[in-house]
Amino acid sequence: MIDLLVRGARLITADGPSLVDIHIDEGTFRAVLPTSDQPPEAATVIDANGALISAPFVEPHVHLDATLTAGEPRWNESGTLWEGIACWSERKPMLTRNDVRDRAEEVLRWYAANGTLHVRSHVDITDENLVALDALLEVRERVRDVITLQLVAFPQEGICSFPRGEELLEEAARRGVDVIGAIPHFEDTREDGVRSIDVAVDVAQRYGLRIDAHCDEIDDEQSRFIEVLATRAHRTGMRERVTASHTTAMGSYNAAYSYKLRRIVARAGINLVCNPLVNLHLQGRFDSYPKRRGLTQVKEMLAAGVNVAFGHDDIMDPWYPLGTANPVQVAHAGAHATQLMAPTEVAECFRMVTDRAAATLGLGDGYGIDTGRPASFVLLPATDPFDVIRRQVRPSHVVSHGALIATTPAAPTTLTWPGRDAEEVDFQRRRDVVL
Ligand code: FE2
Repeated sequence: MIDLLVRGARLITADGPSLVDIHIDEGTFRAVLPTSDQPPEAATVIDANGALISAPFVEPHVHLDATLTAGEPRWNESGTLWEGIACWSERKPMLTRNDVRDRAEEVLRWYAANGTLHVRSHVDITDENLVALDALLEVRERVRDVITLQLVAFPQEGICSFPRGEELLEEAARRGVDVIGAIPHFEDTREDGVRSIDVAVDVAQRYGLRIDAHCDEIDDEQSRFIEVLATRAHRTGMRERVTASHTTAMGSYNAAYSYKLRRIVARAGINLVCNPLVNLHLQGRFDSYPKRRGLTQVKEMLAAGVNVAFGHDDIMDPWYPLGTANPVQVAHAGAHATQLMAPTEVAECFRMVTDRAAATLGLGDGYGIDTGRPASFVLLPATDPFDVIRRQVRPSHVVSHGALIATTPAAPTTLTWPGRDAEEVDFQRRRDVVL
């Protein structure tokens, strides 16, 4: 007898959709087979009823140390990144280990309920006492049976521009972060910005860690640290172990420079993370009209062969007051914000919160629906990724390492319409658009 059997799930591969049975034992996918009338005995059976099966959602960029602090001690009234940083620096002295741990775990439970089982969180290390870092290192252990949590040492107030910034970054590496961060556009001078990238690369290489830099999160067309980061990634051979997050200045680059930049980024093999919810709200705040979007050139970078993922970034914190830790909402907003609306492009937005985000985290064989891999997945009552994004479908079942951890029943609306019997409305489309 096996531990868990999933019957009749809709699996979409390069060969198209098919109905499959999934055999799971000891937390691992044992078999993925065409659905059968004679399945093996199982301790638990989930009837997928034709629901789409997908590898879990992946959050490539969030700030769990700041989450759920919106309005503490005051609200960000201007809506700028800069007032957000000021609010956060006022909140930071109030941080305690339990405060950070409880808020982070609350939001990780929201993530799990929404089917997100891999999360990369930045944690501010520009704090003499590294309170948030120690709290999140503890959280990483506490949640590891359910969620894989990667921690990025994020120097919110700079590496070169903050007292002992370099030492704090190194100390964070020593304490066990997974990824080294940077924030070159925030440093006092351009030279400090370039040097901060070199410091980050040096620490990452000495500790064998990845890099994920907040890069050019500003509406300044002169902010061009991504060319520095990509070139370092290329020349050191770190390549796909490097990620540039936000890259909002790209929304202001001229066409000639954008053309040159696409070649540099594609050659380097780095990942980009665009955070559409938050940067649509934060950017363009100093513009009158026309007002810029301030987002990564997602469509163009994808066309150039660059791996791009969508992140949530903030959830109820000084930079963004909304959010429910739902990656489908992020992908839905991203489709609009980056004008990815052709049917195949909408499907690509789904990949940007699943496969492409997984590649950003470097999950490798630890991710995906295949024999021998960890049995973590979601069932989505939908026909395909396009359908998931359009109707913003929530997973009916979330399974982590073979254990069912979340269920969400369907919630249809009953409509009474003139000339018709009362009927359930689920907003399902009546014909396939794209697989
Ligand atoms: Fe961020």
